[in-house]
Amino acid sequence: MQDILRKLEEKRAAARAGGGERRVKAQHEKGKLTARERLDVLFDPDSFEEYDMFVEHRSTDFGMADNKIPGDGVVTGWGTINGRRAFVFSQDFTVFGGSLSEAHAEKICKIMDQAIKVGAPVIGLNDSGGARIQEGVASLAGYAEVFQRNVLASGVVPQVSLIMGPCAGGAVYSPAMTDFIFMVKDTSYMFVTGPDVARTVTHEEVTREELGGATTHTTTSGVADGAFENDLEALQELRRFMDFLPASNREMPPVLPTSDAGDRVEPSLDILVPANPNKPYDMKDLVEKVVDEGDFFELQPDYAKNIIIGFGRIEGSTVGIVANQPMVLAGCLDIDSSRKGARFVRFCDCFNIPIVTFVDVPGFLPGTAQEFGAIIKHGAKLLFAYGEATVPKITVITRKAYGGAYDVMSSKHLRGDVNYAWPTAEIAVMGPKGAVEIIFRADSDDEAKIAERAETYREKFANPLVAGHRGFIDDVIMPRDTRRRIARSLAMLKDKKLENPWKKHDNIPL
Ligand code: HXC
Repeated sequence: MQDILRKLEEKRAAARAGGGERRVKAQHEKGKLTARERLDVLFDPDSFEEYDMFVEHRSTDFGMADNKIPGDGVVTGWGTINGRRAFVFSQDFTVFGGSLSEAHAEKICKIMDQAIKVGAPVIGLNDSGGARIQEGVASLAGYAEVFQRNVLASGVVPQVSLIMGPCAGGAVYSPAMTDFIFMVKDTSYMFVTGPDVARTVTHEEVTREELGGATTHTTTSGVADGAFENDLEALQELRRFMDFLPASNREMPPVLPTSDAGDRVEPSLDILVPANPNKPYDMKDLVEKVVDEGDFFELQPDYAKNIIIGFGRIEGSTVGIVANQPMVLAGCLDIDSSRKGARFVRFCDCFNIPIVTFVDVPGFLPGTAQEFGAIIKHGAKLLFAYGEATVPKITVITRKAYGGAYDVMSSKHLRGDVNYAWPTAEIAVMGPKGAVEIIFRADSDDEAKIAERAETYREKFANPLVAGHRGFIDDVIMPRDTRRRIARSLAMLKDKKLENPWKKHDNIPL
């Protein structure tokens, strides 16, 4: 027995040493933490329980038979984040470049299976050179096993990817299928084909950073939900982020203690919307003044900024916020914002998170770029997502709710549970000027007449009363009371039950 214990301890020590001092030093020199150091930051002290420290690869080609490191390049197990369970795999770049062998994949699959069984999130800390080149198809098979589990876990437990190093080739598709992707600035990148292939095939000269760095994916492609300055900040923010999520689709979102009263009034909101309907204002002011303690975890803050998405809390419980942003493209919906909003709404619906929608939308963005880019299909995604969602849905129209975009943004007709409007709301088919120019096309050159009729149209339609007469909004509320009314509505909707007709799954326009 002593002998076995000694051997096990040797193996554990070898696993902890990873790729050895030289490679650990290289990792630190890049500004990166090691796989294990990352887990120390991510989890509560002494809560991490490691599995499969003794697993080694089984390949023999290219001198691999004598080149084995226990753990095989990935640290797996579970721990607690502020007391709540989460499973993790943390790839160790110091061991074979964190590359994925068959055995490495089996370790990841094991914790994913366990997470689905017990109903706890899966967090992937990705830092890998991709498929283990020495293993060939065995490692590709390993990836596919992980992919399959990403699909099965989707909508069952939250899956979050933190990209902390290379993530290239088909390997990007595992994070792509998880619910959220965060990146670390300057040290991480993601692409399907790298700069060398791009140079050969498309004759483009592009650096790794330009092609797939954090800036690219948080501003241009929208692949990533956020980026952080370094490993430490990323892991600390990930802890904060996980506090918003329920552990599985069988749970309600966590409730955190708060000293912020649900009936807090915010008089400054009464003057948020400018008198001139064409003047923008910052919708984030409203979001931050409504949620508990102004604590809003915004997702994709630098991508499709015409829509705001993220998590906040009301009376301690998580809510998903979706809001048009009049500061960007006047808050119009376009391809990118529709996709951004739709995926977020679907996440909230999967995981029992009520959705609060703030509306100021003049319509869909016109033009060939949008039409040729299939705004019809992409806009339909957001409509579909709201329409299928059965979680509590509360909508507040602050100003414009024009045309199809009115319908899309969690309207009563898409089973909005409580729909409020501010006195400044304008709910109509289009803006007054555009409307009278069409109805009175013959007079369209007569500016005075158009202005006069636009005013008549505004008085008649550009207000919350017409929608109010029909019951399409439940009440006109004072802006200062927005938080109080939302909090009361959420409490009223706590036990909401609504089911869609039985189906294998739906067929959202893709
Ligand atoms: C085996 C690998 C490896 C890999 C890196 N290493 N990638 N070993 N398989 N895929 C090893 C290196 O041999 C080296 O070992 C150590 O990891 C560190 O690598 P370096 O090249 O020294 O590091 P760096 O300069 O930082 O470059 C990192 C890198 C580069 C950009 C990731 O290593 C690289 O280009 N690797 C190959 C990437 C790749 O083509 N992968 C396959 C992608 S296709 P030593 O012993 O010297 O420390 C793919 C398909 C997935 O993944 C398909 C799913 C469907």
